[in-house]
Amino acid sequence: MEDPFGHLISYLRVSITDRCNERCQYCMPHEEQEWLKRDDILSYEEILRVVRVGASLGISKVRVTGGEPLTRRNVNWFMEELGKIDGINDIGISTNGTLLAKENKEGITHADALKKAGVRTVNVSLDTLDDAEYAKTTGRDLLPDAIAGIDAAREVGFEKIKINTVLMRHRNEHELWDMIEFARERDLLLRFIELMPVSTTQVLNEDNFLPSGEARKLIEFRLGKLVPRPDIRTNGPAGYYEVPGTGQIIGFIGAMTNLHFCENCNKLRLTCEGKLRPCLGSHLEFDMREVLRDEAMTDKDVAKFFLNVVARKPEMHEFRENYQPGRKMIAIGG
Ligand code: 5AD
Ligand code: SF4
Repeated sequence: MEDPFGHLISYLRVSITDRCNERCQYCMPHEEQEWLKRDDILSYEEILRVVRVGASLGISKVRVTGGEPLTRRNVNWFMEELGKIDGINDIGISTNGTLLAKENKEGITHADALKKAGVRTVNVSLDTLDDAEYAKTTGRDLLPDAIAGIDAAREVGFEKIKINTVLMRHRNEHELWDMIEFARERDLLLRFIELMPVSTTQVLNEDNFLPSGEARKLIEFRLGKLVPRPDIRTNGPAGYYEVPGTGQIIGFIGAMTNLHFCENCNKLRLTCEGKLRPCLGSHLEFDMREVLRDEAMTDKDVAKFFLNVVARKPEMHEFRENYQPGRKMIAIGG
């Protein structure tokens, strides 16, 4: 699948639930979150059908997100089925990590189950190493669980474990080098992410936005000049740098300040209620659920739907143009 700007689309991010056991301010700020009804959420079978059709059109990589994907029942079965789809050769999951070390109902840890299902990369969101700050940012006092989860994932031995840290002024700007050390000690790939206007919350204002360029300067002040490593590309939007002395690689995802951010975009997103979104930073979304639940519609119709959405993929996101979030991040899945 190729969009009008020559991007080859090979990556589908799939949100399997809008629910989460945390309440990150930049994602879903309000305590009284209204969850979607069970019927509104795509069944696992429906999602698997979408992925199967996507794979026939060139999707080879799937990342499972939420909400917190590990809160959905029988997620293990779903991951295993995903792994069986022809053409899907790279499966990842994005999680807050707090449940990775916990046992599922078969008595094995989620980390173990994911590995057995063939998951290659685990992305864990971790913005701070300070208990109080963690509780403030996520609304839950679960830092020890997140760290236990990361350790469980390391023991299992995934191909790659990435840590995603959202940059926030006054929140974690004084901890950046601690995060770097944390990642180095554990051999994790750390990426700093600029705060994006994808939630309807008060954390997201000019005061809390920390540009990635400024974060780099803060880091360099302590650790010395970071060496750009344009040779490292993970087919995502991150730019990578080497920390002098240690050789550690860290990444920066500058959705707001990097004007070339969208140039290599290869992604589509499926929300948990079945909207196919061509871009995180655009209000465009197309209701695939209607097609999936219409018995007259065949896989060919689903394929046509995919191609139509790809044809409408914008050249770049609208975050810089005074973008007003239409729905919460938690409903889209990062
Ligand atoms: N800005 C940047 N990143 C965000 N995430 C969630 N909300 C935002 C936001 N407003 C990140 C999480 C996680 C990933 C799925 O998306 O930290 O790493
Ligand atoms: Fe949950 Fe992740 Fe959103 Fe935090 S960012 S509330 S962990 S889905």
